[in-house]
Amino acid sequence: MSAERLKYTEIADALAAEEAVYQRLASISGMHYAFVDTYGCQQNEADSEFIRACALRMGYTLTDDPMQAELIVVNTCAVRDHAERRVLGNVGAMSRAKREHPDLIIVVAGCMASRPEVQERLKKSFPYVRVVMSTNNLHRLAEDVWQAMSTGKRVYDTDNSCDRVVEELPRDRDRSLRAWVPIMYGCNNFCTYCIVPYVRGRERSRLPEDVVREAEERIAAGAKEIVLLGQNVNSYGKDLDICYDFSDLLAAIASLPGDFRLRFVTSHPKDASRRLIDTMAAYPKISPALHLPFQSGSDRVLKEMNRGYTAEEYLAIIDYAREKIPEIVLTADVIVGFPGETAEDFEKTYELVERVGFESLFTFIFSPREGTRAAKMEDPIPAEEKSRWFDRLIELQGHISCELHEAQVGKEFEVLIEGPYHGRQGGTAARTPGNRLVLLPGVHTPGETLRVRITGATMSALIGETI
Ligand code: SAM
Ligand code: SF4
Ligand code: F3S
Repeated sequence: MSAERLKYTEIADALAAEEAVYQRLASISGMHYAFVDTYGCQQNEADSEFIRACALRMGYTLTDDPMQAELIVVNTCAVRDHAERRVLGNVGAMSRAKREHPDLIIVVAGCMASRPEVQERLKKSFPYVRVVMSTNNLHRLAEDVWQAMSTGKRVYDTDNSCDRVVEELPRDRDRSLRAWVPIMYGCNNFCTYCIVPYVRGRERSRLPEDVVREAEERIAAGAKEIVLLGQNVNSYGKDLDICYDFSDLLAAIASLPGDFRLRFVTSHPKDASRRLIDTMAAYPKISPALHLPFQSGSDRVLKEMNRGYTAEEYLAIIDYAREKIPEIVLTADVIVGFPGETAEDFEKTYELVERVGFESLFTFIFSPREGTRAAKMEDPIPAEEKSRWFDRLIELQGHISCELHEAQVGKEFEVLIEGPYHGRQGGTAARTPGNRLVLLPGVHTPGETLRVRITGATMSALIGETI
C-alpha cells in the first residue's frame, strides 16, 4: 500500500510538542485564545478541524475574534490569484493583533503556504508571521508552534514531500450536523490550469476501514450529513493494493445504520462511471446530488486543459444520471477565458449549460497560476471580452436556476433543518435530499427532518411551509 501512515516517532514528537505548549500556557495566568481562519474548499474545512483539535490539546480556547488571540492559524487557498491576495490582505490586517499580544504567533498554513513564491514573500514582507507550513506537514503544527514559542525564531516547515496519511492524531469531533470526511488527499490529474497537484501532492487514499470508522463515529456523535471529500473521488483506492473503488466505499457507508444523508465532492467526469450512478440510485441514503465540473464545452479547450473527456462523453454521463435518478440535482464548475479560448469555444460552453440545465454553476474567470502549464500559454483574449462571456453565462444560469426552482413549487420534500437563516428575511434554512436550499418561516430544531411543501422560489432558494 502506498498510502504510508505516520511513523511512531512522528506521533510521539507531535504529542510531546502539544504537551510542552500546554505546560507553557498553564504557567501563564489567564485564558489563552486561538483563532483559526479558513479559506478555500471543503478539504481545507476538514484540515481546519484538525487544526482546532490540535489548538485545544495545546491548551488554547477557540475564539472568533482575532484581536483576542495569542495563536492565529490562517489556512489558505491558492486556487486563484484573487483568493491569494485576499489572504495576504487579511494576514496584513492581523498584524494589529500583535499590539494586543506581543507574543502572538501567526501561522500561515495550507495550499498558498506550500508555494515557494509565497513563502519568499512571507519571509520578506510579513515579519510578524512566525510559522509558515505546507499542507502535508499539518501534523507538525504543535512542533512548529512550540519551536516558534520556545526559540523566538521564525519557523519555515515548507518541505512538502511528506506524503503521509494522518490517522493517529484526532480531528475536532465537533457535534456539527454536517461532517466533512476526507477519503483521499492530493491529486494526480494535472489539469493544465490547476495549482492543486503542486500544493497538495500526489493522490493518497485513506484505507476503507478508517473512512468507514470515521463515518460511524460522526453519525454516533449526531452528524446528519456525511460529505466524502477528495479532489477526484472517483479515483479513490487506485493507489491501494486492494480491489475496492469509490462505489464500494459509497455503498459501505450508505449501508451503515442511522438517520443520515450521504454526499460527496468532487467527481471528475473522466472517471465518473455508470457504476457510480447505479450505486447512487440503489441506496436511499445517498443524496440525489451530483457536482460534476465540466470546465468547458469545447473539446479543443478540454484537450488543452488535459481534462481527459469530450463534451459528448460528459453529456453521456449526465444523461445516464438523469435516466437512473430523475430527481437528481446537478451542479458544476466552469472556467471562462482559458488561454486561447475563442468566441466559438465559448459558445460551446454556453450551449452545454443550456442543454444540461444545472441547478447552480460555479463560474470562474481563468486565473494564471505560476508553475502550471496554462500560465505559460499565449492568452490573447482581452480581459473585457472574458468579462462579457462571464456575464452572459451568469445571466443564462440565473434564468435556468429560476426556472428549475419555480418548477419545484407545489412539490413536497423531506427537508433537513440546518439552523437559522442569516439572510435578510430570517427564518430557518433547510435542505432537500438533493441539497437544494429551502427557507422556512419560524424557528425549527437543527438536525430535525420535516415534511414541507414548496410555496415559492427565488434564484438561489426555495420557499417552503411545513405540512
Ligand atoms: N478537483 C475538482 C475538479 O477537478 O473538478 C475541482 C478542484 S478546484 C479546487 C475547484 C475549481 O476551481 C475547479 O473546478 C475549477 O473550475 C476552478 N479553478 C481551478 N484552477 C483555476 C484557475 N487557475 N483559474 C480559474 N479557475 C480555476
Ligand atoms: Fe485541479 Fe484537475 Fe486535480 Fe481538480 S482534477 S484538483 S481541477 S488538477
Ligand atoms: Fe484551494 Fe487548496 Fe482547496 S488551493 S480550493 S484550498 S485544495
